[in-house]
Amino acid sequence: MTKDYSPFTPGKPVDKELFVGRKEEVEFLKRKAEQSTEMGMQTIFLAGERGIGKSSLASFAKDVIEKESKLLGIYTSLGGINTIDKMVAKIIDRFVKDNYDKSIFEGFKGSFNKYIRQVGLFGINVEFKPPEKDIASIADNFGFTLQELTDKIKNEKRGILLILDDINGLASSRKFANWIKSFVDETAVSRTKLPLCLLFVGLEERRQSLIDLQPSLVRVFDLLEISNWTDEETEAFYREAFGKVNVSIRKDALDIMVQFTGGLPVFAHEIGDAVFRIDDDDKINIGDAKRGIMLAAVIIGRKYVKPGVLNSIQSKHYLSILRKVGAGPFEFKRKDLLSNLNKNEREVLDKFLNKMKKLGVIRAVPESGRGIYCFQNRLYHAYLFMEAGNIRKR
Ligand SMILES: Nc1ncnc2c1ncn2[C@@H]1O[C@H](COP(=O)(O)OP(=O)(O)OP(=O)(O)O)[C@@H](O)[C@H]1O
Ligand SMILES: [Mg+2]
Repeated sequence: MTKDYSPFTPGKPVDKELFVGRKEEVEFLKRKAEQSTEMGMQTIFLAGERGIGKSSLASFAKDVIEKESKLLGIYTSLGGINTIDKMVAKIIDRFVKDNYDKSIFEGFKGSFNKYIRQVGLFGINVEFKPPEKDIASIADNFGFTLQELTDKIKNEKRGILLILDDINGLASSRKFANWIKSFVDETAVSRTKLPLCLLFVGLEERRQSLIDLQPSLVRVFDLLEISNWTDEETEAFYREAFGKVNVSIRKDALDIMVQFTGGLPVFAHEIGDAVFRIDDDDKINIGDAKRGIMLAAVIIGRKYVKPGVLNSIQSKHYLSILRKVGAGPFEFKRKDLLSNLNKNEREVLDKFLNKMKKLGVIRAVPESGRGIYCFQNRLYHAYLFMEAGNIRKR
């Protein structure tokens, strides 16, 4: 039976009704947004590993803050953007697209109308597209633009929540790091308080990179880090999602899915989706769960492990060690692995372990003892376990 409707959305920020956990984080962001309306600009960096749910949290919090705190939310994803000019243009474009037909846009038309183009077959969509030569001055005056914007909308909105997601392309730029610093400083000394809650979203290493480039930023950013879901949250997510499409799930099936998810929302959607598609009677049993997990492991492995790990290893000794590690248990002792290796492999074992740690495939487990490692998560292990045969053939 093919099913046309899956409640799971691998790879996309989650639907509001299926958003699970993150209560404290949402409260924190709401508090910051409130503070920005009273005390002026607040700057936050939301950090967390890939797929942990940063974008989903940012967009969920935006909805809550817009509704409950009456701020205007602007959410921009800056993936692929590498200059400040382009960033500013993209932010204004987002604002224009979301608000062009709303009353708060009225007072704003004057300044930007000449740059707005109607696009699409019926001209329903709009685009903010200033000529190259004007972009730089728009970017230079970004602080004033925001001040003007908050003034013009102040009867309806108490301030602005500006979310800059996926700042990867900018995070290694010294110009960007300095721009943030001077933007924050100028705003702080300006006569009027700018009711702006500025939320940067990215991997922790991006925050580090910005701080390396401009050390004062360490004090500028209020850090909000999100971590893995607890098992209870993962369980609640699966129950909620399957419940939505009237699919029942047995406790033993749920337990193993929770175990393999390891608290990572991105995996929960992949596993949930695979299990949902494999099941053919709207009742998830342990067999469905196991087959779904294997399928999800292949999907995840091809996305994350194959390109970054398997394809990047040239050494044939590394590959043969990886094959042995993959075929072994989830948690392993260096000593046991060593006794299973030939002379050539033994010589490079420590380099191999370091490389795998760096690539995020395995990690040390000091709480279990010295020389003990485990896979970063159970899906990587399942994938490499299945791939062990293929690694051998290369
Ligand atoms: N709180 C949540 N409730 C339910 N699903 C979630 C939640 N957070 C994230 N997800 C799901 O997990 C997956 C990854 O989430 P998201 O894209 O928000 O992560 P991210 O940290 O922004 O990832 P990246 O580092 O790749 O940008 C998506 O499929 C999303 O739908
Ligand atoms: Mg994201």
